[in-house]
Amino acid sequence: MLTRILAGAAALAAAAGFATPAVASTPSPGAEPQVVGGTRASQGEFPWMVRLSMGCGGALYTNQIVLTAAHCVDRTGADSSITATLGVVDLQSSSAKKVRSTYVYRSPTYDSTGGDWALIKLASPVSGVPTLPIAKNADNNSGTFTIAGWGAAKEGGAQQRYLLKAEVPFVDDSTCQSQGGDYADLKPDAELCAGKLDTGGVDTCQGDSGGPMFRRDGAGEWIQVGIVSWGDGCARAHAPGVYTEVSSFASDIAAAAGKI
Ligand code: ARG
Repeated sequence: MLTRILAGAAALAAAAGFATPAVASTPSPGAEPQVVGGTRASQGEFPWMVRLSMGCGGALYTNQIVLTAAHCVDRTGADSSITATLGVVDLQSSSAKKVRSTYVYRSPTYDSTGGDWALIKLASPVSGVPTLPIAKNADNNSGTFTIAGWGAAKEGGAQQRYLLKAEVPFVDDSTCQSQGGDYADLKPDAELCAGKLDTGGVDTCQGDSGGPMFRRDGAGEWIQVGIVSWGDGCARAHAPGVYTEVSSFASDIAAAAGKI
């Protein structure tokens, strides 16, 4: 079944405490428990990664605005209920920066034509934390992508204390659609698929939603091409992860960020 996260469920999982990243539930010698199929990110490796208190990820877009998924938030409007944690891979680190939200902007097209993105304005600018530029054209919408998040390390698993990362290959729209089920309804201009089609094993999962999918651009700089959106379970074969196609919404995102 389609698993687009229920922010509430993720919040419950987060409130229940973090998994100790130690034990794989299924015997897999040599494999550590991971994002799904990932490894720990090092401190400072992806400095713009944000954890949001409703149980989603995000990326710092400006020094006061976080880019996340529309399905992680309720509506556009004033909202001081969200806490963003920044600047750390360990969410329990005493050096974590924690900033409250003041306003949420939810993509106005999400419920109709698609576009699973939202902006969260923070109460004050964050200093010393770099931003992640977003893709403005489709040039980087293929190849190998990096994913990262504090979400479940396996389908149905607990939220993570330490940031995990992994790499996933691009899956083209027609191949993605031909996996059937919910994938048949893929919105090719609004969504981008990625994952190991034949084997599965590497993917984002519940609680990673809203976080960035990114790669190096032609100049060798990190650029955000996707936002974690949905998938059929996690890391299953023939069930790639589906990401918001950021380049399709880059001008809308920039315009909205300029207004909030
Ligand atoms: N909707 C999920 C969330 O809110 C993300 C699911 C991603 N699933 C996947 N198989 N890539 O956290």
